[in-house]
Amino acid sequence: MTSASKSDTALISRVRTAIAAAPDATAAMTEAVRLLKDNLPHYTWAGIYLMEGDELVLGPYLGKPSPHTRIPLGRGICGAAATERATIIVDDVNNDPRYLACSLETRSEIVVPIMRGDTVLGEIDIDSDRPAAFGKDDRDLLEQIAVLLAARL
Ligand code: SME
Repeated sequence: MTSASKSDTALISRVRTAIAAAPDATAAMTEAVRLLKDNLPHYTWAGIYLMEGDELVLGPYLGKPSPHTRIPLGRGICGAAATERATIIVDDVNNDPRYLACSLETRSEIVVPIMRGDTVLGEIDIDSDRPAAFGKDDRDLLEQIAVLLAARL
């Protein structure tokens, strides 16, 4: 399986339940990241950045430690997704000049803003060691989870 699938309806239910049961925003984000990373093998790195002023600050994540713990809005694929208020999928990070490397093994990336109205609260960032790992099903899954998280941030 190279992308998320319709069976992710079950995963979304589990994430919804976990987010609703979480005692606070950090626990909600931590659970969402854990469920994604544990259930989707092509998700090599999964994390959440939160907007603080004009920077994205790394929150809960699973995977190798990233050197990019604070990303200004104008930088990276993360900064671009927040500026555009839109999901960005990059099939080949080595061919995208915006890309800020987290790990040399990373080949593709998806970044999904967490929005409240027009305001970007943060974003879900997923890296894969597989090229072109992310498709429409991943976008649908992560955009639904972003809505669930927005209600807890
Ligand atoms: N690749 C991201 C930086 C974050 S790390 O992947 C965790 C970017 O280009 O914004």
